[in-house]
Amino acid sequence: MESVIVKSPWQCASSRTLESRELGSLPVNRTGNLLALSSSSCACAPICSPTQRNNLGTFPRRRVMPVVRAEVSQETATRVSSMTIPSLQKAWYYEEYGSAKDVLKFGEVPVPEVQPDQVLIKVHAAALNPVDFKRRLGKFKASDSPLPTVPGYDVSGVIVKVGSKVTSFKEGDSVYADVSEHALDGPKQWGSIAQYTAVEEKLLGLMPKNLSFAEAASLPLAIETALEGLERANLKEGQTILVLAGAGGVGSLAVQIAKHVFGASLVAATASTSKLELLKQLGADIAIDYTKQKYEDLPERYDVVFDAVGECEKAVKVVKEGGSVVALTGAVTPPGFRFVVTSKGESLSKLKPYLESGKIKPVIDPKGPFGFDSVIDAFTYLETGRATGKVVIAPIE
Ligand SMILES: NC(=O)c1ccc[n+]([C@@H]2O[C@H](COP(=O)([O-])OP(=O)(O)OC[C@H]3O[C@@H](n4cnc5c(N)ncnc54)[C@H](OP(=O)(O)O)[C@@H]3O)[C@@H](O)[C@H]2O)c1
Repeated sequence: MESVIVKSPWQCASSRTLESRELGSLPVNRTGNLLALSSSSCACAPICSPTQRNNLGTFPRRRVMPVVRAEVSQETATRVSSMTIPSLQKAWYYEEYGSAKDVLKFGEVPVPEVQPDQVLIKVHAAALNPVDFKRRLGKFKASDSPLPTVPGYDVSGVIVKVGSKVTSFKEGDSVYADVSEHALDGPKQWGSIAQYTAVEEKLLGLMPKNLSFAEAASLPLAIETALEGLERANLKEGQTILVLAGAGGVGSLAVQIAKHVFGASLVAATASTSKLELLKQLGADIAIDYTKQKYEDLPERYDVVFDAVGECEKAVKVVKEGGSVVALTGAVTPPGFRFVVTSKGESLSKLKPYLESGKIKPVIDPKGPFGFDSVIDAFTYLETGRATGKVVIAPIE
């Protein structure tokens, strides 16, 4: 019987192989052989000594990775967790600020030392966020960590080493995290687009049991931003909200959290034409096509506006008297306010039941997951500003 691997914006939790007769009614892409095939060339300029390099195998410049391999089960990963930890690892890094194709290199870097309050994660998947490219372009130079930098905030993987002060996690645990407590102020020099990354215990969450590594990696920074933004906006049960960019990485989670965690009575969201159906699937009551309608010209007023676009000046026009406008980016117009997310494991713990019950679903852009050799392609795609949900890198082996 014919089998195909189904990938959709929903990335079904089990990522199981469906038989062709099951596909009839599903709103998904169909491909029997969906591949993450790099069109970029790796700039393998190592930043370690030739002797160190000789101790490592070389990374193939091009690898064809069937997507199904991104969906290694948590059980399988646990069995291979007690591996020998090398001193060097394969990673993407940059030594100067600039465009992805100009500065990103693939090579060997040290495996980070584990501090007493940290664990070392064998990375299985990572995800990109706009802050990764803004940072790589040098927009946060003044508060950035030193170069060279391994980019990447979002990670999922298995703990292979625990620091002496870690109490709540152990080797073999499948975990996920935004690895940098403060996204702009001293973010981690050795991020998640690597085979290993070291993360503080307080930033970690145990992976929801129903999620694959690719799905889990898609969540931390975006879901924590959505939750913190809605908390700061003081959204209350029964209130109404407009989410600008409801199909993006943060917006797709803000729509779901507003509805299912905060109990909003009405969720409106904006996107371009082809993404309106997704907004409905996410739980939006009203899907506004921003290419055809100006939400600021519509009569509806909202208790909260969640601005993931950077158009606070327009957003404040549609908030009710006494309501809140929370802005993630761009200039702020009063009464709007802006904040920068703080990574917290407790946010992941709070949302775990909603993820495990399927009330909140990860949304992975259907162009991905991108292979570990296709990180330049993944960045280039994210930087178009047109991603649907999250741009994920998986598998990372
Ligand atoms: N302050 C913080 O702590 C924080 C945290 C996370 C993110 N951010 C910032 O928040 C912004 C959004 O992040 P993200 O991860 O969600 O980005 P993203 O996933 O790259 O956003 C892409 C989405 O934006 C939509 N979009 C673009 N212009 C739009 C418009 N005018 N109206 C409606 N939708 C529009 C696109 O939909 P279409 O293709 O349909 O246009 C696409 O789906 C970024 O600037 C990011 O740096 C800030």
